[in-house]
Amino acid sequence: MPDPSFYAAVESRRTIRDFLPEPVPREVLDRCLDAALLAPSSSNLQPWEFVIIRDPEARAAANAACLDQLPARTAPLLIAQVSHRDTWRRNRDEILRIFESRGPLRKSHGSYYRKIIPLVYRTGPFGVLGPLKRAFSRIASLFKPTPNLMARSDVRVMAHKSTALAAATFMLALRAEGFDTCPMEGFDPWRAKALLGLPRGAEVSMFLAVGRRSEKGVWWDRALMPRDWTVREI
Ligand SMILES: Cc1cc2nc3c(=O)[nH]c(=O)nc-3n(C[C@H](O)[C@H](O)[C@H](O)COP(=O)(O)O)c2cc1C
Repeated sequence: MPDPSFYAAVESRRTIRDFLPEPVPREVLDRCLDAALLAPSSSNLQPWEFVIIRDPEARAAANAACLDQLPARTAPLLIAQVSHRDTWRRNRDEILRIFESRGPLRKSHGSYYRKIIPLVYRTGPFGVLGPLKRAFSRIASLFKPTPNLMARSDVRVMAHKSTALAAATFMLALRAEGFDTCPMEGFDPWRAKALLGLPRGAEVSMFLAVGRRSEKGVWWDRALMPRDWTVREI
């Protein structure tokens, strides 16, 4: 039997652009973060970071970076969802450490994280290896199925994909708790990056305004594409 509470959260989630001032309780936020951190990620490398913006000055600057959009201005809580292109090595080491602390590492697991992961994600200084790796993969693919040995831009896409899944999980968890969100891609990426002190390989994937919807929170009825534009079978 399907779980109706899952569908209730999915169907009642809307982008909310006007929030009540009611704060989001810490325990609600923590539960939703815990849920979001269970999201799937490429090779389990969890390239994300949630930055909860509490400091009033930082919040004012973040609102401005979000182009003073109404959801940023009215939400009691603003979170930057950051995607990291360069944390794969650190996170790979942590995965190995966790598994090794539980007992002998399976050989396939060890070689995947020690050999395959660096082969795929390492792009060399200034990303110089990337175009060569990509060209090699493209040519090899003419002869047999070959994974993309990534260039720096591919690693960036990988990080954003997984980060967006964590954001989606977080948004649905908040809805299950009776709270609402507005994901925002409409922001100044340079100001946002400087404000959060992000390293070169990190970017804000999106901001998330979080709170309880006001009566004026939903601006439009849903408008879905025809199903045969968005789903097909071959
Ligand atoms: C990655 C992403 C970026 C978005 N950026 C903005 C934004 O900057 N401002 C905004 O008001 N809505 C933003 N939205 C919300 C979309 O406009 C909204 O999801 C869409 O219109 C569908 O409406 P619904 O979420 O209520 O179903 C964004 C959504 C996503 C997924």
